Amino acid sequence: MVDVQAHQDTRGSGIPYPFDIRPLTETGGAEVFGLDLSGPIDDAMRDAILRAFLEFHILVFRDQSLTKDQQAAFSRHFGELEHHVGRLPDGSPYPIVHTVTNLDENGKPTPGAVALGNYFWHTDKSYHDIPSLMTMLHAVELPTKGGDTQFTNTRLAYEALSPQMKARIAGLKAEHSWEASRRNSGAPPATEEQKRERPPVAHPITRTHPDTGEKTIYLGNHVSHVIGLPEDESKALIAELMAHIEQPQFIYTHQWRDGDYVMWDNRCLLHRAARNYEIASERRLLHRTVIIGTKPY
Ligand SMILES: [Fe+2]
Repeated sequence: MVDVQAHQDTRGSGIPYPFDIRPLTETGGAEVFGLDLSGPIDDAMRDAILRAFLEFHILVFRDQSLTKDQQAAFSRHFGELEHHVGRLPDGSPYPIVHTVTNLDENGKPTPGAVALGNYFWHTDKSYHDIPSLMTMLHAVELPTKGGDTQFTNTRLAYEALSPQMKARIAGLKAEHSWEASRRNSGAPPATEEQKRERPPVAHPITRTHPDTGEKTIYLGNHVSHVIGLPEDESKALIAELMAHIEQPQFIYTHQWRDGDYVMWDNRCLLHRAARNYEIASERRLLHRTVIIGTKPY
């Protein structure tokens, strides 16, 4: 029997949640206690989790222990699982539950094992025509200190824009691409094959959240330029918007605890990994699943 906690859903329906949930910050994020995600959940529980997800954008389920199969099963409650675009060193595709880690193929901590793009603000797969809806990370091994994940709330950031800026970016689209993502993060350039496989896509800078109707700023490290603007104007506009989004009042920094299972909404957040741990000597390993979203509008 789960406790009905007193927290009221202020942005949603007002129905109390059937689990213990505690908001983490003003900018988003809530901790959920007392649920075991490794076992089956029914539709009513799935719907309550989704409601909390829409209200808080980031849910942190404490004290979880899921196998990869259990994580895949839990994830499938929220949509279709996405395959990773990358390839393993032997050329084979990533498994559906893949690993985010600083460990190399021999299990040794090494800074080079982490994709550089993770350290820059981004929203997952925005270089796809149909980007990611939800990403879930389950902590398996954590460094003794640091290794945080940061989120910035692009819904709040949009709300805080001046009316002039809102009018200026209404109707503007940005081009997102794998190639730009590699370039922006200083990673080795995309290969010709990768460029063919992942051609650039255009998404509105002002995105409407498909479930809440709220407007968000949809940008990040996969962006190449604003379509239709001269290059210098495009660069200046992206820099101004990103500087706005990166302000501390929009940011939640997640400090991982053993057993954390975190899900977040890529449609109204940017995220990045913090380089704040002993990456060359300490181990960090998380299991990741991603749910496919819908075309931004
Ligand atoms: Fe990511």
